[in-house]
Amino acid sequence: MSLFSALPDDPSLSDPLPTSPLPLLGRWMHEACDGRVQRNPTAMTLATVGEDGDLSARVVLWRRYDEESGFLVFHTNRESRKGEALAERPEAALVMHWDALQRQVRIEGPVTVSPDAESDDYWETRDRAAQIAAAVSAQSRLIRSRDDLLQRLRAEEERYGGEEGPPVPRPPHWGGYRVWCRHVELWVGAEGRAHDRVLWSRALEASGDSFHAADWSRMRLQP
Ligand SMILES: Cc1cc2nc3c(=O)[nH]c(=O)nc-3n(C[C@H](O)[C@H](O)[C@H](O)COP(=O)(O)O)c2cc1C
Repeated sequence: MSLFSALPDDPSLSDPLPTSPLPLLGRWMHEACDGRVQRNPTAMTLATVGEDGDLSARVVLWRRYDEESGFLVFHTNRESRKGEALAERPEAALVMHWDALQRQVRIEGPVTVSPDAESDDYWETRDRAAQIAAAVSAQSRLIRSRDDLLQRLRAEEERYGGEEGPPVPRPPHWGGYRVWCRHVELWVGAEGRAHDRVLWSRALEASGDSFHAADWSRMRLQP
């Protein structure tokens, strides 16, 4: 009896592999969210490279996945460290990890700023506290103390008339980014670390704020 079983418990990457990873990626995202496999199933690590090769990574939440075009959307303050990095070099690497499912996703590709309507739509779904906090926070900048932050939040809450006040407008520097899938690697954990990895890649040619995509190629990688 071998230590290594022929198939991982999760047959997602069994042959024949799909030509495009996008529907399978969508299925994995749904399964992670519907199954509530962890507190933040939409969390992903976002790595960027800014000025002078300034490398950084942080967790953000994906809020939309466009399976047809193959991009994911996250929202943030565009004047933050990541925003500055993306302005300098609009490329990103993403990693999602669902431990309970033994699945990892890696995505790399170009980044574009979401159209205003997309950012507005999402802004309107945020609760009031999150809107006020986003409007107040000069994300990634120094603050004297935590009290200072809370004072600013309360002052802004009062300015907007508390719970019943008028809508909080989306600050122009707050909104979405689209990360376009140029490379997608899906990983499934297996017994004895005989993990399964498949990498799909395609060329993306810029066309305005969007991309023309060539066909996907795919290859299985050693774990
Ligand atoms: C679970 C989780 C989800 C987060 N989601 C977001 C998000 O969607 N957008 C965001 O700007 N920051 C989010 N953050 C905070 C970021 O990790 C980070 O601290 C912040 O964006 C500042 O990053 P920067 O200084 O590199 O720009 C999240 C953090 C955690 C732990």
